[in-house]
Amino acid sequence: MHTNEIPSPELNNTEFVRMMDWSLHGKTALVTGGSRGIGRAIALSLASLGADVAITCYTGCKFATDVQAEIQDMGRRSASYSHDIAKPEDVERMAREVSMAFPSIDILVNNAGITRDRSFKKMTLDMWQGVLAVNLTGVFSVTRCFIDAMADRGWGRIVNISSIIGEAGGFGQANYAAAKAGVIALTKTLALEYARKGVTVNAIAPGFVSTRMTAEVPERAMQSVLERTPIGRLAEPREIAAAVSFLSSPLASYITGHVLDVNGGMLMR
Ligand SMILES: NC(=O)c1ccc[n+]([C@@H]2O[C@H](COP(=O)([O-])OP(=O)(O)OC[C@H]3O[C@@H](n4cnc5c(N)ncnc54)[C@H](OP(=O)(O)O)[C@@H]3O)[C@@H](O)[C@H]2O)c1
Repeated sequence: MHTNEIPSPELNNTEFVRMMDWSLHGKTALVTGGSRGIGRAIALSLASLGADVAITCYTGCKFATDVQAEIQDMGRRSASYSHDIAKPEDVERMAREVSMAFPSIDILVNNAGITRDRSFKKMTLDMWQGVLAVNLTGVFSVTRCFIDAMADRGWGRIVNISSIIGEAGGFGQANYAAAKAGVIALTKTLALEYARKGVTVNAIAPGFVSTRMTAEVPERAMQSVLERTPIGRLAEPREIAAAVSFLSSPLASYITGHVLDVNGGMLMR
């Protein structure tokens, strides 16, 4: 089943379970911020399920080249594209370059993101706007380059990487929390607008994941995070990638507008 259609009523339950379809063969994905951390794990995971995968990078394009090579070693097509997601005109240039090599992007993972943490009292307008530009306007700019082509083809998957901070707030993270909450609201709105066009739009809200981003968290704060996480450890990037792979797969055809918590039990709703 590679459409959002209802599973055939002729299948009984056992047959339906047997044909559970994780395969992304024949699909092409674009992962923003695929050069490292969670984005790298997502790109590799989608490729291992059979997708060709384009990735974007900004300051870490030498790492993106390594990810691209790993994907090609799996027998899939891959290429990496440099851009500053905060600049809409740069995103449009990247999208034109991607479309020349990969004419149909079926799966879009909006993953690129940054933090610029500071207590609200000390947060500058620059810090506020910088995080909003990458983490929220960036999702808008990339999505609008690809979503209508998905709708025209009648099949698409968009997975936006939000955060537990967008659900619960975060001390010293007014900018990041507002951007990630905005990503959730954007996800639900796009899900409504594109549900009848074969495009599902979902978000993942990770808790704390072991990447460069959390390496910057002071030790005392990290101790508190671990104490508040029932599973008692950070997530590995591949544990976020597994959730993205599920939502990208034909199996998730009836899930849209959902926010999937992958947080070790830190926030239960
Ligand atoms: N780590 C966590 O605990 C955690 C928790 C919840 C949500 N998240 C979210 O997960 C996503 C990935 O985070 P991560 O932990 O993997 O962080 P990371 O290791 O710092 O990776 C961030 C990625 O975003 C890209 N990026 C940053 N600024 C960019 C820009 N201006 N233009 C284009 N790309 C840009 C980076 O590209 P370059 O490396 O090429 O510069 C990199 O690939 C983010 O959206 C983050 O908010 C992370």
